[in-house]
Amino acid sequence: MIKQMERTSQAVTIILCACMIVKAFEMEITPANRIVAQIGETVMLTCNTTGCASPSFSWRIQTDNPLGGTVSNHGTYSTLTMSPVSVENAHDYLCTVFCGTEKKEKSVKVELYSFPSDPVIEISTSLVAGEQATVICKIPDVYPSDHLEVLLKKEEHILLEKNFFEDDSTNTETKTVTYSFNPTTEDIGKDITCVAKLLIANMEFEPKERVTSQKLNANFGPKNTIITASPSNSAMEGDFLKLTCVTESNPPPQIVWRRQVADKSVQYLVENSVLSIPHAHFTDSGLYICEVINLVTNKTEKATVDIVIQAPPKNTTLSVFPSNAVKQGESVAFSCTSTGVPAVQITLRKKIGDVITTLETQGGKYTIGRVQLKDAGTYECVSINELGEESQHIVLDVKVPPQNITVLVHPSENVKEGENVTITCSTYSNPPSQMVLKKVHPEREIILSSVNGTFTLYNVTKNDTGRYLLDVFNEVGNNIKVIEIAVVGRLEKTDQMMAVIIAFSCVTAIAIPVVAILIYVSRKAKINGSYSLVKALRLKV
Ligand SMILES: *[C@@H]1O[C@H](CO)[C@@H](O)[C@H](O)[C@H]1NC(C)=O
Ligand SMILES: *[C@@H]1O[C@H](CO)[C@@H](O)[C@H](O)[C@H]1NC(C)=O
Ligand SMILES: *[C@@H]1O[C@H](CO)[C@@H](O)[C@H](O)[C@H]1NC(C)=O
Ligand SMILES: *[C@@H]1O[C@H](CO)[C@@H](O)[C@H](O)[C@H]1NC(C)=O
Ligand SMILES: *[C@@H]1O[C@H](CO)[C@@H](O)[C@H](O)[C@H]1NC(C)=O
Ligand SMILES: *[C@@H]1O[C@H](CO)[C@@H](O)[C@H](O)[C@H]1NC(C)=O
Ligand SMILES: *[C@@H]1O[C@H](CO)[C@@H](O)[C@H](O)[C@H]1NC(C)=O
Ligand SMILES: *[C@@H]1O[C@H](CO)[C@@H](O)[C@H](O)[C@H]1NC(C)=O
Repeated sequence: MIKQMERTSQAVTIILCACMIVKAFEMEITPANRIVAQIGETVMLTCNTTGCASPSFSWRIQTDNPLGGTVSNHGTYSTLTMSPVSVENAHDYLCTVFCGTEKKEKSVKVELYSFPSDPVIEISTSLVAGEQATVICKIPDVYPSDHLEVLLKKEEHILLEKNFFEDDSTNTETKTVTYSFNPTTEDIGKDITCVAKLLIANMEFEPKERVTSQKLNANFGPKNTIITASPSNSAMEGDFLKLTCVTESNPPPQIVWRRQVADKSVQYLVENSVLSIPHAHFTDSGLYICEVINLVTNKTEKATVDIVIQAPPKNTTLSVFPSNAVKQGESVAFSCTSTGVPAVQITLRKKIGDVITTLETQGGKYTIGRVQLKDAGTYECVSINELGEESQHIVLDVKVPPQNITVLVHPSENVKEGENVTITCSTYSNPPSQMVLKKVHPEREIILSSVNGTFTLYNVTKNDTGRYLLDVFNEVGNNIKVIEIAVVGRLEKTDQMMAVIIAFSCVTAIAIPVVAILIYVSRKAKINGSYSLVKALRLKV
């Protein structure tokens, strides 16, 4: 029995050797038996022969379906190319070769999958803390989906596990898992991970697991918006005022500053969380509004702060209408304005010499209906608040035309040649009056002028007899007095003793003008022998 088997084995060996020698007709198919390919790739099957000069090839699918590929014959081998390979190509491909009448055939199984890319995580755009959010994980173009398992995790905590084992998978499909939850502010920054596994036994491909992570970014706010003021909301003038708008918001909000001023209009200021006023001025006082807008949550919140910039009295102005020099009897109005925070108190005082009188004002205004000389003096406006005081003064001048004129002729209106006659004139005026004495003369008018009183004329003759008009005037008015002088006989004395001196002394109540020059001039005029009072006047005082 054993011997028989040995013999048979020897015979087979001989036959094999014979075949080798004649190069027996053989065929092979690559890849052999089985190929695992991803849908969309290019798959090429090769049917190769040896030991046949001109083999003829044919490819087919056992089910007699279309090949779904391109056959290309190259003498001793033939290829079947499927580009791209699709789900219809999942078959056993049979290659049949004839070498003459000799036929050989082999098959290869094409197995397909599709798992081309990582999962895609989509988080509902309006992810807001406290509001329901949805996380979607998409696994694109999976085949066969009935082997797909998906895991959704927040950090290491599993949110959701899902498989698609019940799927009736016929082609590539995009699979989606959805998870809804209420995010909290603590969730910000945590990873959401989607793990997709396509586990098919006996099918070799990589990767079989794909993972995608995304950070959770919960949007919230704005909330708890407040304004902080530095150094404080009642800062002093000149301080560096810094207003900061503090809010809780994700993403960071858009901030708009406004200021509401007294007339209710609104000013747009910087778009920043900090509003800086390097040198605060009391006009910077007002209601400041910080408006924060979260562009994702579409929520708005406002905070306000009332800022008062404190300042001592400033810009104190005392004005007088129509002017600070008025004519007696006119009306005069004083007005005092001043600013400061806290509000200032305004006082108007009148100072005449050492006498100070506080006047009753109405909102800083004070009016004198008919002004008198006694109203002339210094007026002071004082503005006071807790932080200080400021004052302004003005001098009121009341102009009075000459009045209450008294003329005294000494020794009398009837004088002798050589006698000294003094005319004393007193008046009350402001500014001081000037005086002109005119002698009424039929041919020419002789004019003499005098201020402060004394006009001396030496050696008057009878020609000085006559009517004199004493004109007392200042810029606001005049007053005329008539004096009759009669030079009658001659004084029985020495020449010098007989000199007649007419001295005018007119003293005004307010002013003390100078007349010395006139006296001198007149004397000079007389010494020159020409009774030229006109000339004396021309020299003017
Ligand atoms: C066919 O097989 C021969 C021998 O094994 C080899 O040398 C040749 O490269 C093969 N041709 C193709 C196209 O695979
Ligand atoms: C935001 O709110 C305003 C008014 O409430 C609305 O008109 C607008 O459409 C909202 N925008 C978004 C993106 O929700
Ligand atoms: C001071 O007051 C006057 C009158 O009220 C005003 O016109 C002026 O602008 C003020 N000046 C300042 C610096 O406030
Ligand atoms: C001027 O005269 C009037 C009366 O004629 C008198 O009441 C008044 O006090 C006088 N004024 C002065 C300043 O003397
Ligand atoms: C007085 O006036 C007359 C005529 O104008 C003149 O002739 C005479 O000399 C004068 N007398 C004196 C003293 O000036
Ligand atoms: C005054 O006048 C008379 C004559 O006109 C003359 O004689 C006399 O010297 C004069 N006296 C003086 C002081 O001028
Ligand atoms: C008149 O005045 C002059 C000058 O002041 C003086 O010299 C003379 O003595 C006076 N004459 C009389 C009578 O007083
Ligand atoms: C003017 O008169 C006053 C007194 O009425 C006197 O004190 C003053 O000295 C006089 N001035 C001159 C220049 O004479």
